[in-house]
Amino acid sequence: MRGKTVLLIIGGGIAAYKALELVRRLAERGVRTRAILTKAGAEFVTPLSVSALTGEKIYSDLFSLTDEAEMGHIQLSRSADLVVVAPATADLMAKMANGLANDLASTSLLATDKPVLMAPAMNVRMWESASVKRNREILEKDGVLFAGPNDGEMACGEFGPGRMAEPLEIVAAIERALAIEGPLAGFKALVTAGPTREPVDPVRFLANHSSGKQGYAIADALARAGAETTLISGPVDLTAPQGVKLQRVTTAREMLAACEAALPADVLVMAAAVADWRPDFAANSKIKKSTDRVVPLIKLVENPDILATIAQSAQRPRLLIGFAAETDDVVPNAVAKRARKGADWIIANDVSGDVMGGDRNRIHLISEAGTEDWPDMTKSEVGIQLAARIAKTLKGAA
Ligand code: CTP
Repeated sequence: MRGKTVLLIIGGGIAAYKALELVRRLAERGVRTRAILTKAGAEFVTPLSVSALTGEKIYSDLFSLTDEAEMGHIQLSRSADLVVVAPATADLMAKMANGLANDLASTSLLATDKPVLMAPAMNVRMWESASVKRNREILEKDGVLFAGPNDGEMACGEFGPGRMAEPLEIVAAIERALAIEGPLAGFKALVTAGPTREPVDPVRFLANHSSGKQGYAIADALARAGAETTLISGPVDLTAPQGVKLQRVTTAREMLAACEAALPADVLVMAAAVADWRPDFAANSKIKKSTDRVVPLIKLVENPDILATIAQSAQRPRLLIGFAAETDDVVPNAVAKRARKGADWIIANDVSGDVMGGDRNRIHLISEAGTEDWPDMTKSEVGIQLAARIAKTLKGAA
């Protein structure tokens, strides 16, 4: 990323304030941002705040003589490595899809010879309207890249797709668009996700509410950061993240065998909600209510503890990260779990609410150094921040 230049077009929408954080995040990564602030965008953020963060003058007027003398729209759009539109309004999408060019933002989009990444933000009904859908299809066919939008509550109070992707998610999409070698290039990562299913008979099983979303987001972030990533997943309704080797398993014992076969790795993140017990006996044919009149008693036996087993093995990764799904005394229980299982870090989360299956998470990172309380964020953001921490730790130890 360092040394690259992004031309950021800030459209008019409430989400424009997030564009300011995007500039900061890019600056942290050594990326220079030049910004075009549309007239509508300037209703939401001031040119002064944008230029204070970019450290450059703001471009806004197509017909400004000084701007044209210094850098016209053609040069502006081509001197960057990537053009990012955030927030991408329905208007900006329509202009680019149809080749309209009546202001600096739209002429720059038309004139650029660089990839364009859009982070749409609009009301859910607008996003789902036939014309926005059509424009998006045209833009995708033209090779425009998209980050988001996310599902969620919007400033207008409605709920659904249309919320702009979070700044860190846009940064990850920028990294991918620029195909930059990430900080974890050369490292091997193993991630587990989802529940395990423990069969009772051919049609019944014991399982839990894990959706796999957090584990998949972590695998996605690790792969985007350049790690060679294997994801071992219990049964979930998610597709494999790009660039991740996915292996599906069903039971805890299968998950353990798959982990052992995938080692060695530099880091293992055990995000799976592994069933602690399984029926001691899985019937080969369906247990019938009609013939077996007595209510069956299911006797449970303990499953192997995958994390603890790997912590003790010769193949122990350099960084072993477990999760702690807790409903009570979250941090004290997780601190004890870290010691008991022999993990380096434990990511503790309170699963008494709607974390399991939801899109957001509030975690506590427990390590030898103590406990860090992370703010509430999307599972995708947790993945990105965690991948950055893993990179820092592995590189420090390399
Ligand atoms: N885990 C594991 N194998 C198991 C059970 C759990 O590897 N058989 C891992 C999980 O993937 C997670 C960590 O251990 O990374 C903690 O899981 P959790 O369900 O919170 O803890 P339990 O071991 O089940 O402990 P308790 O039931 O006391 O909360």
